[in-house]
Amino acid sequence: MKKILIINGPNLNLLGKREPEIYGHLTLKDIEEKCKEFSKNINCELDFRQSNHEGVIIDWLHDSKEFDGIIINAGAYTHTSIAIHDAIKSIGKKVIEVHLSNIHAREEFRKKSFISSVAVGQISGFGLKSYLMALLYFDD
Ligand code: DQA
Repeated sequence: MKKILIINGPNLNLLGKREPEIYGHLTLKDIEEKCKEFSKNINCELDFRQSNHEGVIIDWLHDSKEFDGIIINAGAYTHTSIAIHDAIKSIGKKVIEVHLSNIHAREEFRKKSFISSVAVGQISGFGLKSYLMALLYFDD
């Protein structure tokens, strides 16, 4: 069974009440439960986490040896964090970048991602299904 780490960055703890017209009505707990349910079909075990702190996310990336793959929604750090870019580059793991909203169809500053050049790929704009599609990548 594969072990997958799902990392959620800043403000994603507010899902459900945060700009629901953009991010939907599901809470992060709902997303966690639905990902865990889905992962049973593809024989994966999930560790689902959230932090509002860049350094904590970097520590989780450094300490990810036990995982076969990582899915990350880095929230606004996507657009700012060279440190998370460098951390992903340094661990040599397959990382999939996900976003609930389509970051390319929003403000100009969201179009730049520091994650995508070090990720296997980016899935953006499908809400919960962005996470489920990323999980499917690990189904082989
Ligand atoms: C987000 C998009 C980011 O631009 C934003 O800062 C977020 C959430 C998304 O999932 O759509 O916090 O990563």
